[in-house]
Amino acid sequence: MFALGLRCTGCTGEYDLGAYFFGCPGCGEALEVAYDEKAVGSVVSLEMWARRTASVWRYAELLPLPAGGERVTLGEGGAPMVRVPKTDENPLPFLYLQNETVNPTYAFKDRFHTVSISMARRLGYDRVVCSTTGNHGMSAAAYASRAGMRCVVLADPRAPVGQRDWMRLFGATVVVEMNRKPPLRAFVEEHGWYPSTYMTPMPVATPYGVEGYKTMAYDTVMALGRAPDHYLFPVAAGDGLYGPWKGFQELHRLGLIASLPRVHGVQAAGCNPIVQAIEQGLDEVPVHPGPDTAALSIADDTGGRITLRAIRDSGGTAVEVTDEAIFEALRRAARAGVSPEPASAAALAGAWELADRGVIRPGDFVVCCITGAGPKWPDAVSGLAPGEELVNPGRAVFDRLMSGAPGPRSDPR
Ligand SMILES: Cc1ncc(COP(=O)(O)O)c(C=O)c1O
Ligand SMILES: [Zn+2]
Repeated sequence: MFALGLRCTGCTGEYDLGAYFFGCPGCGEALEVAYDEKAVGSVVSLEMWARRTASVWRYAELLPLPAGGERVTLGEGGAPMVRVPKTDENPLPFLYLQNETVNPTYAFKDRFHTVSISMARRLGYDRVVCSTTGNHGMSAAAYASRAGMRCVVLADPRAPVGQRDWMRLFGATVVVEMNRKPPLRAFVEEHGWYPSTYMTPMPVATPYGVEGYKTMAYDTVMALGRAPDHYLFPVAAGDGLYGPWKGFQELHRLGLIASLPRVHGVQAAGCNPIVQAIEQGLDEVPVHPGPDTAALSIADDTGGRITLRAIRDSGGTAVEVTDEAIFEALRRAARAGVSPEPASAAALAGAWELADRGVIRPGDFVVCCITGAGPKWPDAVSGLAPGEELVNPGRAVFDRLMSGAPGPRSDPR
């Protein structure tokens, strides 16, 4: 194994690959996994990885589980890169959607939990707890079940009922609770449960989950053969953006990519703490009072400092988009054959917004991470589909349809 241990992103503190859930014991900043990159560099290449099955674990040299360590895996990662055709609606000829909806529980969260839960088991835990608005809990429940671990999911009351049902089908206990932070802390601090989740105070999440997220950068490079010029991510707490930024930096230091992308965070106008921090040059992410957006997965009222740092270090920015723009992007993604949930469509809306502002130029390579799947959010998407269904229409309507004539409502394009 090439992982050396945990390193603090704030001070110079170094720690073993242990159970650190509240950040650096010295200064409270986020911890991340550090590797012997010289040794890694002497054994890995993009060609070697390409010969392996597409998966998070294809990149085992840059993951914290020792060789022979038992992986808790369901075949996550390797999401396809889907190019959006250039049309009147899309001015960007090199616009790609990283389609994370193909993961085992239909969201990028599976990359997090395959590493996080594997490490939980390695560290001797048999009980896992998390907080969720939907995707995170469904993924945690699936991987905990696979690992034979007890799982409690603290779920936002607005998390879709269908997803909560699946958490229970996977074997988790679901607790619906608006104020999840106090019980979460008590599970972990008083009763020794493993948190496969973000912990407070910000900006600290399990450093192991972030290692799973960073493979989105590796997969991007494997698919494009280069780093993109821009990588856009829908941001809540911010680990989903921070992970790939860590991954791009590792590949750059290893000499496997020639340049780094600018990493941009996208938020809803009704919940934009990271955007406020970037626009106002703040060092701390403020708390947004009363988040109000249909994109529940990115409705966290605050986020992590490491995310601000990632955006700034990359030369990127943070941009807000209205719910209207999010739904329009969702419709356009659907017409390109991809099914984002609203939070994920925000990344695409953000790309077009940054193109309008001239931050993204037409010849640039742009990747938007489509983090999760629309069909998991039937209520959020209801009413968006154009036209109407035809119910028992009768032979005359069938005849018109079969002749290829336009239906009662013509194609929206
Ligand atoms: C679909 C989707 N996109 C984006 C995010 C934001 O991820 P992060 O909290 O790491 O910023 C989430 C988090 O729940 C999510 O479910
Ligand atoms: Zn520190």
